[in-house]
Amino acid sequence: MRSRTTPRPPRPRLARRTLLSGIPLLGAGALAMSGCTPDDAGAATDVENILTISLNQTETHPSYLALTYFGEQLAAATEGRWGARVYANESLGAQQEVVQLVSDGSVDMAVISATQVENLSMAFRPLNLPGAFLSIEHQTAVLKDDSIVGDLFSSLEEGRRLRVLGGFSQGSRHVYTDRGPIESPDDLHGLKIRVQESDVFMALARALGGSPTPMAYGEVYTALQAGVLNGAENNEVSYVTQRHYEIAPHFTKTNHLVGLDYVMANVDRIEQMDEADQDTFATSFEAAQEEFVKLWAQETDASTQIMKDAGVEITEPDPEAFGPAVEEVGRSFLSRPEDEDLFERVRALADDMEVEA
Ligand code: GCU
Repeated sequence: MRSRTTPRPPRPRLARRTLLSGIPLLGAGALAMSGCTPDDAGAATDVENILTISLNQTETHPSYLALTYFGEQLAAATEGRWGARVYANESLGAQQEVVQLVSDGSVDMAVISATQVENLSMAFRPLNLPGAFLSIEHQTAVLKDDSIVGDLFSSLEEGRRLRVLGGFSQGSRHVYTDRGPIESPDDLHGLKIRVQESDVFMALARALGGSPTPMAYGEVYTALQAGVLNGAENNEVSYVTQRHYEIAPHFTKTNHLVGLDYVMANVDRIEQMDEADQDTFATSFEAAQEEFVKLWAQETDASTQIMKDAGVEITEPDPEAFGPAVEEVGRSFLSRPEDEDLFERVRALADDMEVEA
């Protein structure tokens, strides 16, 4: 697959309610006709059953490319019985709403940040804390380790009909602002920093020194532009694909967390496949995860280059400036013994892999 980091301005949001009213009855084809431009949706159309996948990223983002690849693999291996179509740019809604749509079967699959899954079930919280994952390699190994995540990933099936298929890394997250340089929490004092809608992220932004403002991802560009926000926190790939670097050109490598996106599916929809196709579905998804890891590394490098070329001020702060406060946030959210146990098992795998803290 080709790497395609070509930043474009965020697309205006589509009228979601009109769009979504067509999904349960009419399926993906109806979506395309009811307002999505061809650019909003990707992958195979000549298949009998199309899985609708919701994504809040652009068509140049590794998640979009990996999921499109997933659809192609699935369609080829099931000889056209099953395929997938990825709806980009929050065109089916922001993650907080979309997770409900996957739960009720209006949308088949979605990429949902760990923050939103934590809002559904506290049991997921330990995987969303600073210090849980020490690197992308460590995170990838945890996602593949059934003894750590097996029960957790199936825990939402009965109540919510949601299956966690696995995940895509968000890489290391950093802070960026409309002014700078930001070298310590004092420099962020009084600045409104967008965070995902999550208690952990609210606490993290405070620990970094800023004033947290929870907001959906797709709203951030406009809010930065309007001065409603002074900054946000994310990885290089999102910073570039969302074009936030144009309006918040000071990027500080706080490395506060290795974030995680889950890929979730509606269980009933998956169970409509016969057993052989379900196996193919699983293998195609594994292949997409591997593809994602490669694309992620490429796109992080490409994004860093775009940032440099655009004259973004990149600050590497003293690790002691933000590190201890961030670690403290991690510890403060580990009050339940079962959470501490999961966190410890995740970290034990890092020890086995000899990844350094
Ligand atoms: C990353 C992540 C998204 C998430 C976003 C955010 O880009 O991949 O799933 O929604 O951060 O900050 O909201």
